[in-house]
Formats: sequence, structure tokens, C-alpha cells
Amino acid sequence: MGKFLSLFHALIIIFLITCSILSPHLHARPPPNPIQCNATSCILHNAYGVWGDRRDCFSSKVVYPTTEEELRLAVANANQNNLKVKVVTKFSHTIPKLACPSSQQPSKTMLISTEHYGSRIEIDEAKMEVTADAGVSLRDLINKVEGAGLSLVAAPYWEGVSVGGLISTGSHGSSWWGNGGAVHDHVVGLSLVVPGSELEGFAKVLWLEGTDPLLRAAKVSLGVLGVISKVKFKLEGAFKRSITLNFTEDEGIEDEYIEHGKKYEFGDIAWYPSAHTAVYRYDQRVPLNTSGDGVNDFLGFQSQSFLVADATRAFAKFELHAEKQFESSSNVEGKCKMAEAFMVYKKLIANGLKNDKSTFTGYPVIGTQANMQTSGSCLYSSRLRIDLTCAWDPRIKGLKFYETTAIFPASKFGDFVRDVKKLRDLIKPENLCGIDVYNGFLIRYIKASDAYLGQPEGSVVLDFNYYRADDPTVPRLNQDVVEEIEQMAFFKYGARPHWAKNRNLAFLGVPKKYPNWGEFIDTKKKLDPQGMFSSEWSDEILYGEDKEKGDGCALEGLCICSEDRHCSPSKGYFCKPGVVYQEARVCKYSPVEVYSSTD
Ligand SMILES: Cc1cc2nc3c(=O)[nH]c(=O)nc-3n(C[C@H](O)[C@H](O)[C@H](O)COP(=O)(O)OP(=O)(O)OC[C@H]3O[C@@H](n4cnc5c(N)ncnc54)[C@H](O)[C@@H]3O)c2cc1C
Ligand SMILES: *[C@@H]1O[C@H](CO)[C@@H](O)[C@H](O)[C@H]1NC(C)=O
Ligand SMILES: *[C@@H]1O[C@H](CO)[C@@H](O)[C@H](O)[C@H]1NC(C)=O
Ligand SMILES: *[C@@H]1O[C@H](CO)[C@@H](O)[C@H](O)[C@H]1NC(C)=O
Repeated sequence: MGKFLSLFHALIIIFLITCSILSPHLHARPPPNPIQCNATSCILHNAYGVWGDRRDCFSSKVVYPTTEEELRLAVANANQNNLKVKVVTKFSHTIPKLACPSSQQPSKTMLISTEHYGSRIEIDEAKMEVTADAGVSLRDLINKVEGAGLSLVAAPYWEGVSVGGLISTGSHGSSWWGNGGAVHDHVVGLSLVVPGSELEGFAKVLWLEGTDPLLRAAKVSLGVLGVISKVKFKLEGAFKRSITLNFTEDEGIEDEYIEHGKKYEFGDIAWYPSAHTAVYRYDQRVPLNTSGDGVNDFLGFQSQSFLVADATRAFAKFELHAEKQFESSSNVEGKCKMAEAFMVYKKLIANGLKNDKSTFTGYPVIGTQANMQTSGSCLYSSRLRIDLTCAWDPRIKGLKFYETTAIFPASKFGDFVRDVKKLRDLIKPENLCGIDVYNGFLIRYIKASDAYLGQPEGSVVLDFNYYRADDPTVPRLNQDVVEEIEQMAFFKYGARPHWAKNRNLAFLGVPKKYPNWGEFIDTKKKLDPQGMFSSEWSDEILYGEDKEKGDGCALEGLCICSEDRHCSPSKGYFCKPGVVYQEARVCKYSPVEVYSSTD
């Protein structure tokens, strides 16, 4: 088997290299439209094609306004007819089911799509501000702004998002400088369409700006206050960025992260715990006249040949089968080889940084803010015939994974890292290779925000991805380890879940983590008294209530297990305490109990 694995990992490297050399000439398929309709109904998907509970989201009606007045009329119509409404975008890249209207009666719901509401981008050069329609894509916004000699300072790393969608979930890049890494903290105004009285024509447009408390609610609103029509951002004079990646040891990372965040305006750290490696991103602003025409074409967001995606998945499946039959060490080893191979490759190609738009020749890589701040080349098509897509494209049965994003009060993050290191050493580092196969633990920075649902204090964001099985009843390799880290983050260290990511359990008890949560709910009651923009799906996230626990619910992160049946006793997974965080309850493979149980 060892031979098979090393051959396999060599193949992956060759594939990746081939793809990256060829990729500018290959044809990429844009992502599928998230809304699919037939004569009777429509189904809404997220970009991965699967919601957290794996149940489809239905609605009987979709409207596509193109102007603010059409938007207002859509809300008025819904108000008159008592419809439940959600706004959807052409991207639908949020993982939780926030954009799904009530499941009770599809005929009493309506989707308002911003797909055709994205043509206006107005720049005020004197004030250094830009106002954009909510459906404008981040890339279009950035290019337009940069064309006028200005820069938007903060952006999420992934550019396949809309202006309205990205602020609604608190999306962010990384920065402790200036207004910080969260994009909504650069918002200076927005217009919101909310239900109105008959006299007001059943819907009205509110313009919010300055210190208006309604703006504090509307900047990050999960789509539950009303429809965002336009967003105004503060800009700065155009600049370039200089990036160097330092692949080094992870020693001292638990203290180093504070210094790093202070020292580099856009710094981040990718921590690969199984490999004892930390990749420090030294990323700072340089004057526009600095020479360099580099781009940040992040590897994970480049087009992947479906072969690579399929191969990766087939490999993961192979391992899961192996888990039942072989000793766990043999398949863990496979995952580690794969993580190692990816790491070698990432280092070789600087994770997708390119000095001259096509190749990496050395550090630092210097380019314009527009070319460095965010990426997503898998979104766009170019010439040739071979089909390429984003790696997670549901049409190619692409990568399927969970994404946990925990936002820590900055001062508590160091102790969390110490706990994870302790866990790693107790369980053996190899058991964390499943996380390192993706991007390890990505560590980023955001500042305190005045948005009610933004971060109340300076924070550190931790992101990690891990394998999700096609079949919800199939337990995953080392799932107990990942669950322990997840619960440690959210419940021992009080991290707040990113609104656009995570499995449902991460939202348990979320209201008490936000000092202004009550103000947000009061604002909602005022602007949307009938709950037109609420659904049981968005309530689940916003109110973070414990739900009834079904069999196997912990396997999918829909609950924290408290009984064995919440895991998979028939497959040998039982509900057990954590190793370092003993209050955690995780689904753990415990073969001894299989022998003693009846099946
Ligand atoms: C590959 C990938 C990488 C990512 N990287 C990052 C990252 O680096 N940093 C980060 O912070 N996030 C990241 N995200 C998360 C992403 O930024 C958010 O999910 C974002 O909200 C998606 O925007 P969207 O336009 O697809 O909105 P959607 O997912 O379609 O909508 C999000 C929510 O906003 C509501 N909404 C949308 N438009 C409006 C409107 N006009 N008015 C009112 N409500 C509205 C929807 O109803 C929904 O509740 C990433 C996601 C993916 C898939
Ligand atoms: C199409 O209609 C059938 C019922 O006639 C329904 O079961 C199915 O889910 C619908 N598909 C979509 C994409 O709406
Ligand atoms: C990389 O990090 C290590 C450890 O912090 C440090 O000793 C080294 O000087 C750094 N290298 C560069 C190029 O900055
Ligand atoms: C960039 O511009 C500044 C001021 O305009 C000037 O002082 C500096 O020498 C320039 N640098 C380069 C590399 O041209």
C-alpha cells in the first residue's frame, strides 16, 4: 500500500503542475446557477450544491428586479400577499441555509434575486467613496474602483461574492490596521428596502448613513432586516502590496500571532499542525510606483481539472473504507503523504502568487491591491475546450468539505493554540493530517466593529476545512479530533462563528456572545414586524437554539452528541468526552465496544 500511496501522491503533484502550467489556456465553466426551476417550483442551492441538513430548499416564485423601484415593488407585492421572502444572489456562496425562505408552504414564499441588479457602480473621487448596487460582484467593484485610482482596502480572499451578500454575513480579509479586515467596517452608507404601510405603498426605501443606529444593524444583517439595495464604501488612494511567504516552524506561533498582526497590515498565518509548519504571510502596502505586476491567484481558487477533484475524493473514500478494515495508522499515513505532497507543491508555486501574471519567480511578489487582495480564477472562462471548474463544483462531484470558522477574542487565541498543540502531541500529529490536506488552520485578523452582529472586540479568525462524506451516515476518519477542536473553539474559548460558514452546532448560544444582539433583534422587530424576512433556517442560526437531536445528528454537525445514537454505534462510533477539553462530546471510533455490543 505504501507504494500505491507514494505513486498516487506523485501523480497528484504532476496533475497539479500540469494544470497550473496549462490553466491560462483552458476553458473554465462558470459555476452553476444556484436557482433551478421547472414549471411547478424552484430549488435553491448553495455553491456546494448541498445544504448543512442536505435537504433541498423550495420556493414557488423568483423575481429578478433590475432597478431600485422594481425591488421596492417586489417587497410591496410580498407584503400585500403575506409572502415570506429571502434575497438570493447569483453566487450563493454561504454555507448555512440563511437564504432559504420558510419550508412550510413554498407557495407562500418568494425569492428576490440580485442576479440582474448589478450594473451601477458610482465613484465619488473627491470623497473617495463608491456606491454600488447590491448585486455587483466584488471583482467588478474592485476593478472599477482601481480604474479610478482608488482602492477598497478590505476584501474576503474569495472574489466570487456580491456586495450585498458579502457584507450581510460579515465577510472579511485580514487586517488589524485602519478600519480592519472586515468589509462591513468600510461601509459608510446603504439603502434598505423594508415593508411599509399602505400609505407608503406597502414598501419603502431607507437610506442609512453616518451614526444612524439602523446602519449598525444593517451592515451585518444575515438578510433578515430587508433587501439591501445599494452599498457605499469608503476608499483610499490606490496602492500596491508586497507579499512574501515564509514557510517555517510552528514553534512560538501561540505568542507570535499578536506581533505578526501588528507588524503587517495584511498579514496572515497558515498553520499546518501535523507538519509542525507555519507559513507566515508578510503582506504590506507599498507605494503605487513600486515596480511589480504580480497577481495573487490562490491555488485553492484556481480551476481544478475534474480529474484532480475526483482523484482527491476517490482517495478520501479509499481511506474511509480502509478505516473499517485496516489499522488506522495505515490510512492516516496516506492522508499525511497527501498533505505533505500538497505542501511541497504550495511552497514551490508560492500558493499561487505570480510575479508576472503567469509564473512565480521569487519573493517578494508585488502587485496592485486589485490583483493581490482577492482571487477566484476558477470563476472565469477562457479559450480552449477542456472543462475546468472550481474544485467544489457539484456538477463534477467535486470536493465536498466542511468549513469551520471561529472568531476568537484576540487575547484568548494563544491559549487555544496551546490546547491544540497539547492535543496534537497526545493523539499523535498524524491524526491532524486531514486538516492539513486542505489549508491547515488559516489565521487572520479583524478589528472591533460597531455593527451589532460584527465583532465587539479585536479578533483572530481561524478557518479550517475537512472532509465531508457523500453519505451523511458515514463517519469520518478522526472526526473525534476535529469535533474536539471545534467545540473547544466555540465553547471553551467563546469564539463566535462566522455567519457564512460552519455547521449548525457552532451557533449554539450565539446571542450571548454578542453584547448588541438585543439591539439587533429590536431593530428587526421595528423594520420587519411581520417577520417577512425570517425563516426557521435563519432563526436557527440567529437564535442558536438547541434543537431536538435525531439519530446520527452529530456526524453532520447538526448537534453535539449526548447519547451514542447521535453518533453511529453500528459503525463503531460512540459519544465520548474529549481528550484535552473533557467537556467536549465527540463521536469516537471505539472498536472494543463494537465487539461487546449486540451487532
Ligand atoms: C470558496 C469560498 C471562499 C470564501 N472565502 C471567504 C473569506 O476569505 N472571508 C470571508 O469572510 N468569507 C469567505 N467566504 C464566505 C463568503 O464571503 C460569504 O458566504 C458571502 O456572504 C457570500 O456572498 P454571496 O454574494 O454569495 O451571498 P449569498 O450567500 O447569496 O447570501 C448571503 C446572505 O446574505 C443575504 N443577502 C444577499 N444579498 C442580499 C441583499 N442584497 N439584501 C439583503 N440580504 C442579502 C442572503 O439572503 C443570505 O442570507 C468564502 C466562501 C467560499 C465558498
Ligand atoms: C420539478 O417538479 C417536480 C414535481 O412535478 C418536483 O418534484 C421537482 O423537485 C421539481 N424540480 C425543480 C428543479 O424544481
Ligand atoms: C522566517 O521565519 C523564521 C522564524 O521566525 C525567521 O528566523 C526567518 O528569518 C524568517 N525568514 C524570512 C525570510 O523572513
Ligand atoms: C515614487 O514616488 C515618490 C513620490 O512621488 C518618489 O519620491 C519616489 O522616488 C518614487 N519611487 C520610485 C521607485 O519611483
